[in-house]
Amino acid sequence: MTPPGALTDQPPVSQSVVQNLTRAAIFLVVTLNPGTANRAAVRSFCGDLPALVRAVGFRDLEGNLSCVMGIGSEAWDRLFAGPRPAELHPFREFKAGARHALATPGDLMFHIRAERMDLCFELATQIMIKLGDAVAPVDEVHGFRYFDDRDLMGFVDGTENPAGQAAVDAAYIGPEDAAFAGGAYVIVQKYLHDMAGWNALSTETQERIIGRAKLSDIELDDSVKPAYAHNALAKVVVDGKEVKIIRDNMPFGRVAEKEFGTYFIGYARSPRTIEQMLENMFIGQPPGNYDRLLDFSVAKTGNLFFVPSASFLENVADEGPAAAPSQLADTATAGPKRTGSLDIGSLKGDPAS
Ligand code: HEM
Repeated sequence: MTPPGALTDQPPVSQSVVQNLTRAAIFLVVTLNPGTANRAAVRSFCGDLPALVRAVGFRDLEGNLSCVMGIGSEAWDRLFAGPRPAELHPFREFKAGARHALATPGDLMFHIRAERMDLCFELATQIMIKLGDAVAPVDEVHGFRYFDDRDLMGFVDGTENPAGQAAVDAAYIGPEDAAFAGGAYVIVQKYLHDMAGWNALSTETQERIIGRAKLSDIELDDSVKPAYAHNALAKVVVDGKEVKIIRDNMPFGRVAEKEFGTYFIGYARSPRTIEQMLENMFIGQPPGNYDRLLDFSVAKTGNLFFVPSASFLENVADEGPAAAPSQLADTATAGPKRTGSLDIGSLKGDPAS
């Protein structure tokens, strides 16, 4: 057990948001069942999660198992007293014509990544055993890495992700919300594609919609890239500086059911960046100049979650609801430990024992 107060002289450790892309992932979204006992079960689970990741991940260290846990806005208030993350709110919807970025239920999200699906599957199983009747399942998607890191529409997906320190700076909250430094926001959306419609387009038309060459993945020159290109609308510039996010989209599907999808997952230190991208895509920039990818892709889910630091999660179980955020407020003034290689499974101590 971490002794009470021990965290005050250490910067918070982040969850493993910034990661190398893996071959497999499970995206698990659940709701929190009503009742004090269920809330208590989830709170105590927060401290158990690192031990679960360690136990499953140790069976194949090269499998690089990790898990990020996110908490929705309503669930946050049910689970924790005290201050709340400054920008946590329910998923903001965007709607124009047939395009709808809709909000769907979800209190907790687990983003489980590994080189092998069996590791992801085993961790998801152990998580659900631990959570038991405290939660109800909403959505579970098993993603796989497709040829050359392509999405099912045939384009390489993830190229322009920031790397190294730029990734750390894009993902983790800093002094702007010191009580929650080392945390992050995550938006997820499950998209289904009209593959017949997409495949009926010429490769050149598809390339103009994405803004990159299909085979080589080279970005189209500005002289030929349309204003509606996905990578033009998804570029957010504030005060002359591009604001990046971390994406780890995964293809998924069920062939016999003609289900072909992309699970979009974007992490950022502020949800405003991803919301601006969604507004540009769905409403258009300027309005009407929308993302043609959406003529062939329908969003079936939409959630915003806060990803507290791993230190916060560990502290929830140890310290009680009100103590966790305020104690981290003291800690955060020393500056968060914001590296790209931290894994929730590497936390010291075993609160579960
Ligand atoms: C139907 C779902 C989606 C698909 C298939 C898709 C696919 C792609 C592809 C192929 C690229 C170009 C390669 C790359 O840089 O990764 C890209 C870029 C990008 N996408 Fe998406 N995307 C989807 C949804 C979204 C959503 C919902 C957002 C944000 C709200 C988003 C944000 C971005 C960003 C920021 C870039 C990089 C732009 C740049 O700086 O060049 N994407 N996406």
